[in-house]
Amino acid sequence: MRNAAITGWGMAVPDRVLTNADLERMVETSDEWITSRTGIKERRIVGAEDSTTSLSVTAARQALDTAGLTAEDIDLIVVATCTPDQFLVSQACLVQAELGGTAGAFDLGAACSGFVYAVAVGSPFVQPGRHDRVMVIGVDTLTRFVDYTDRSTCILFGDGAGAVVLEATDEPRGLLSTVLGADGAGYKHLYIPGWGAFVPESAELFPEYRPYLHMNGQEVFRFAVRVMGDAAVEAVEKANLTFDDVDMLIPHQANMRIIDAAARRLALPREKVWVNLDRYGNTSAASIPIALFEAAEAGKLAEGDNVVLVAFGGGLAWAAGMVRWGTAGVCHDAECRKSAAVVPESERVPAGRASDTESRTTKTLAGG
Ligand code: ACO
Repeated sequence: MRNAAITGWGMAVPDRVLTNADLERMVETSDEWITSRTGIKERRIVGAEDSTTSLSVTAARQALDTAGLTAEDIDLIVVATCTPDQFLVSQACLVQAELGGTAGAFDLGAACSGFVYAVAVGSPFVQPGRHDRVMVIGVDTLTRFVDYTDRSTCILFGDGAGAVVLEATDEPRGLLSTVLGADGAGYKHLYIPGWGAFVPESAELFPEYRPYLHMNGQEVFRFAVRVMGDAAVEAVEKANLTFDDVDMLIPHQANMRIIDAAARRLALPREKVWVNLDRYGNTSAASIPIALFEAAEAGKLAEGDNVVLVAFGGGLAWAAGMVRWGTAGVCHDAECRKSAAVVPESERVPAGRASDTESRTTKTLAGG
């Protein structure tokens, strides 16, 4: 069976840092309150020179480099975002304009769950052989819609982008299971009113009106604790694996207490949970691909590892998936790429990369 392995990864965050100490000077809050209630210490904020496009392109170029590909090799670009630079055209086309190539390009909107939704949508494009290489980007610049006089929301969000390249393989790699869900009736607990084609009368009466993110934190918190655990468990079960098989949990980085609750449901020790929200806050659709990038670059993801991705957010929506890490079976040289999407059976497992069976056996013997 043809699968969609993750072969490239990249990330980008703005240079500007907003610390808890900075926020103490802006609203009535404290580093102690923010740290104990959320785990966040600082976040990156877009400046005038940054955009959803610029962050996406930096992350995408890095993902192409890691995969050893160029933009011309990509057949499809899917961008998950709720903060595109403009609505016409799509964010994906703006990214492609900078990257080059002629890949199909479209956006997907599922707020903070968007990246996992986009991997779930992008992977099947590879699976039946319709496309050989898909770029999936999760990006948001939500701080442009944050009210910096509202202490209950302005402490939470940061900006960023993360990207992955999906490539065809016949080995069991990439997304092994998918869980997607939404409770549309809960949309009012987290939304940006007055931003879209439906223009309320007030926007005409008050042309200076700027749409800001509204959130009912407690409702979102309760929802998040429930769905993060449930969706993560379902992703493991749908992949016919057990909690013992999970090597890493990469959760949406919104609140440390929500992450801890999800980890407890999977009985995972802290070292198997990737956490970076202390440095970036909640970067919405970028949160999971940035964490994935960091875990990969830190050498914490080995060939054959089982990685659970789980996210929640505006919608209210949620998404989870079990990803088998690694590039076994993927074409690595230009000739192979030209002639076939998938490495012939006889030429599988490139030098230096363990096969799935070897890697799982080694881990078992090592007690991992
Ligand atoms: N500093 C100091 N005090 C504050 C702050 C602040 N920044 N914000 C709120 N408070 C106060 C409140 O006013 C309240 O005071 P009161 O008791 O006098 O009324 C008190 O702290 C407790 O407020 P709660 O809202 O009950 O605090 P809680 O423990 O629930 O934490 C938080 C709030 C951090 C927002 C939490 O509810 C949360 O993380 N919710 C989930 C939000 C989230 O993840 N949203 C993103 C979703 S992803 C997406 O799609 C964008």
